[in-house]
Amino acid sequence: MKTVLVTGVDKGIGHALMETFLAEGYFVIGTFFSDRPKIHEHFKDFALDLGKPESIASCTMAITNFGKNIDILINNAGILADEEETQIVVEKLRKTLEVNLIGAIDFTQRLLPLLSEDAHIVNISSTAGSLELVGKVSHFMGHYPAYKISKAALNMYTRTLALELKDRGIIVSSVHPGWTKTDMGGEEAELTPTQAAKDLYRLAVSKPESGGFWFAGERLPW
Ligand SMILES: NC(=O)c1ccc[n+]([C@@H]2O[C@H](COP(=O)([O-])OP(=O)(O)OC[C@H]3O[C@@H](n4cnc5c(N)ncnc54)[C@H](OP(=O)(O)O)[C@@H]3O)[C@@H](O)[C@H]2O)c1
Repeated sequence: MKTVLVTGVDKGIGHALMETFLAEGYFVIGTFFSDRPKIHEHFKDFALDLGKPESIASCTMAITNFGKNIDILINNAGILADEEETQIVVEKLRKTLEVNLIGAIDFTQRLLPLLSEDAHIVNISSTAGSLELVGKVSHFMGHYPAYKISKAALNMYTRTLALELKDRGIIVSSVHPGWTKTDMGGEEAELTPTQAAKDLYRLAVSKPESGGFWFAGERLPW
């Protein structure tokens, strides 16, 4: 049985990813922030606050002690702290980078020894983090600059980590989940979390060229 680790399974896309991978016969390790998910025979949960280095250290230690190799790691958890802003608010930028970027990187780096030989690391990014698309895609034009900066930087982590892991054969990808009906995406969004999770699942179990940025099986511009 293969093992996937998903951060932020409390709700939204992370929760749907947990359900999708369980239905596909995976053992799921999930981190939760505030809402502990339902127990399942093939599921193990760990508390994690990506904004707190001590939480990242204790969570990754506990996952290591759990003793499973990880075949797929999905860095899904994230925050949109400056949705209403069109200008940088430094405190919101600091918090956003702490969770979406530094927390995700710290978490990943500590778990690298657990990754299987042909593992896939999937960083859930966004078209909002595309340098090329910024200002061109209407629904996020001008808004949430801190969130955009965090996802652009996460994309660069995908590229640098792909180089770091080249000789281990581990694939690293950035993926846009699509505009999805969650607390973050809102009611007007196009996809249900289950639809988004199914597409993310397809990408996660495939073997794309490492260091790519994807949506619905197609490359996105950086
Ligand atoms: N929805 C969209 O349209 C959309 C579009 C592009 C990209 N994305 C990306 O997709 C991913 C999932 O988004 P979503 O729409 O499912 O958002 P969501 O419904 O707000 O869920 C975010 C998840 O992250 C967890 N989380 C929040 N702060 C955390 C922290 N400090 N430490 C650890 N976990 C934390 C949340 O836990 P709690 O529930 O306990 O707060 C929740 O499980 C994010 O990376 C987001 O940027 C979403």
